[in-house]
Amino acid sequence: MKADPIYEKVVETYKDVLGSREPIRNPILAVKVLEREFKLLVSERVVTLVYAAFMNGRPVLFEGPPGTGKTEIGEALLELWAGKKPFVLPCSENYDEYKVIGDFHPLIAMNKGFNEESFIPRTLLAALLLDTGVLVDEIRRSSEEFQNMLLDIVDKRRIIVPELKRVFRARGPGFQVIFTSNPEDIAQNELSDAFLRRVVRVKFTYPPREVEARILKVRVDGRPQIPSGLRDLMLETVNRLRRMSLSHKPGTAELVLWAKMSQSIASLKGASVVSVSDAIEAASSVLVKRFEDEEVVEKVVKEVFGFEES
Ligand SMILES: Nc1ncnc2c1ncn2[C@@H]1O[C@H](COP(=O)(O)OP(=O)(O)OP(=O)(O)O)[C@@H](O)[C@H]1O
Ligand SMILES: [Mg+2]
Repeated sequence: MKADPIYEKVVETYKDVLGSREPIRNPILAVKVLEREFKLLVSERVVTLVYAAFMNGRPVLFEGPPGTGKTEIGEALLELWAGKKPFVLPCSENYDEYKVIGDFHPLIAMNKGFNEESFIPRTLLAALLLDTGVLVDEIRRSSEEFQNMLLDIVDKRRIIVPELKRVFRARGPGFQVIFTSNPEDIAQNELSDAFLRRVVRVKFTYPPREVEARILKVRVDGRPQIPSGLRDLMLETVNRLRRMSLSHKPGTAELVLWAKMSQSIASLKGASVVSVSDAIEAASSVLVKRFEDEEVVEKVVKEVFGFEES
């Protein structure tokens, strides 16, 4: 069989970065590997739903508040399913098919025409040809045309490049798509009905407190040590803040960063144990993302940590 020049280009450009591992398509095993290797705590329910969608060739939409692991969990699940790292497409308003499927090298195209020689394959086409997944991050930031183009490709598992008069088809079950979105972000576009009809939606929420306590254990090293009472105060603080009306509520990502920053502050002072004042020092820098939240966050931290307002 004649070698396909586009496939060769894709292999040459991307194969090394994707790596290769045995796919893991058993949800129970995947949950274990996610914790051990990726330091991600994911419920068997979420893994099962995602895998069931993949078995039906359906893209998955992860929706939920910031910092709840949508992006990292999406990437990890695509990797386990395909046995290769996925491509990540961070969306923006001006994304179009040339940026994600492929475009033409202007100089080569001028000299040799719009053909396979001047064509530069991009990530979505590469994922299709290399049989791996795509994480489309923050889909609401893209235009409706872009969303429709993606859905058409995922539905039919093929990409048409008219200039080359070619249809590229998926080569195996590894080509799957996960979208992420934060519905609370009002600055972003709505998702169309057509889009929502086709995707399998998986809702993300803040994890229950005992799960978040385990995430802290898995994500944050033992040194400098954070006393368990202090961990509880941090958990209580973020949980209270999530119940308040803030423009930015702390996710698990902020909780983990808060713990790590407190450790670094303690370590810079030469301490082997994190103190309450280290945690308070880190608190507003990590938990306040917007000026208007400052007062509420400081008040809650003081309440939880047992300081009177001065
Ligand atoms: N289930 C989890 N297990 C382990 N760590 C988690 C989990 N959920 C969140 N985290 C923490 O949050 C970080 C990942 O957050 P990620 O960026 O994936 O969230 P996101 O939901 O995509 O947020 P955003 O909406 O801001 O993009 C991890 O690095 C980790 O510190
Ligand atoms: Mg994200």
